[in-house]
Amino acid sequence: MLVDKKLIAAVVALASATVSAKGSFGFDLGVVDNDDNCKDADDYIADLDAISGYTSHVKTYAVSDCNTLQILGPVLEDKGFTITLGVWPTDDNHFDEEISALQSYLPTISKSVISEITVGSEVLYRGDLTADQLASKITQVKSTISSITDKNGDSYSDIPVGTVDSWNCLVDSSAVDAITASDFVFANAFSYWQGQTLANASFSFFDDIMQALQVIQTAKGSTDILFAVGETGWPTQGTSYGDAVPSTANAQTFFEQGVCAMLGWGVDVIYFEAFDEPWKAGGSGTADVEPYYGAFDDTRTLKFPLTCNYTGSS
Ligand SMILES: *[C@@H]1O[C@H](CO)[C@@H](O)[C@H](O)[C@H]1NC(C)=O
Ligand SMILES: *[C@@H]1O[C@H](CO)[C@@H](O)[C@H](O)[C@H]1NC(C)=O
Repeated sequence: MLVDKKLIAAVVALASATVSAKGSFGFDLGVVDNDDNCKDADDYIADLDAISGYTSHVKTYAVSDCNTLQILGPVLEDKGFTITLGVWPTDDNHFDEEISALQSYLPTISKSVISEITVGSEVLYRGDLTADQLASKITQVKSTISSITDKNGDSYSDIPVGTVDSWNCLVDSSAVDAITASDFVFANAFSYWQGQTLANASFSFFDDIMQALQVIQTAKGSTDILFAVGETGWPTQGTSYGDAVPSTANAQTFFEQGVCAMLGWGVDVIYFEAFDEPWKAGGSGTADVEPYYGAFDDTRTLKFPLTCNYTGSS
């Protein structure tokens, strides 16, 4: 559902101290500033400083757009963050630029910054590529990184390469080629976009994610796979979608009852998203929620506490 015009990078977080025994927690991070200009290194430094109490791991959706890998990569390394690095696979010219950016800029950083590489985000959801076409792009990225070494001479060849898509597309049998070509698959699920009541939002979130996980495990023939929630969240302003009402209080409740519970179950969660993105304003109807998914507002002020309290043994 997140139409990526502008390349969104995502920041996954290693958990804060309170959730360290559980799944890892993270944020999606936009790569343009409030005025829709590409972020520079200082913008990323301020972003990472704001979220560093909650995250130490990053994932991106495109490497060439806004020169994201070139600019963000060294900042991540300086700040001790890691990244799930996104490559945008649709449009062959764009994909060529993505491959070139990998070849140019992966050698400028340490391999330890890169946790995994995701080829595409919701490609199947948007119908940009078939699963078979996506599998081919995944294979191409695997092949590309196998001949790239980092600044210390270490090969990128064993970095996992996979994809991220909406849970309902992953459970569709047509997705299987993309799943089997992937070293990992992350699933996105937004109870808001299913028009769920707040009371049912966590149930629905778990239902969606468990369905996706089971299908991925079956396709891979193993329960021992790298899996995470690639995106979830709840908008704090805008038009209601069915029974789902945007508000800060509701976002906090979804965080506490859905996100914290998923982390407590041991599943890594990347929260969509770190910061509000006012440049997305102007969408009609329910698209008016798009600027307001941040856990932090557009001045990097936290909207609600991001603390998960677990009871029982951990
Ligand atoms: C709760 O969510 C589940 C899964 O999406 C759905 O099947 C069910 O109808 C929902 N229940 C209510 C009361 O909304
Ligand atoms: C966790 O505990 C703190 C301190 O008691 C409290 O302020 C916060 O609201 C609690 N969070 C949740 C999700 O229950």
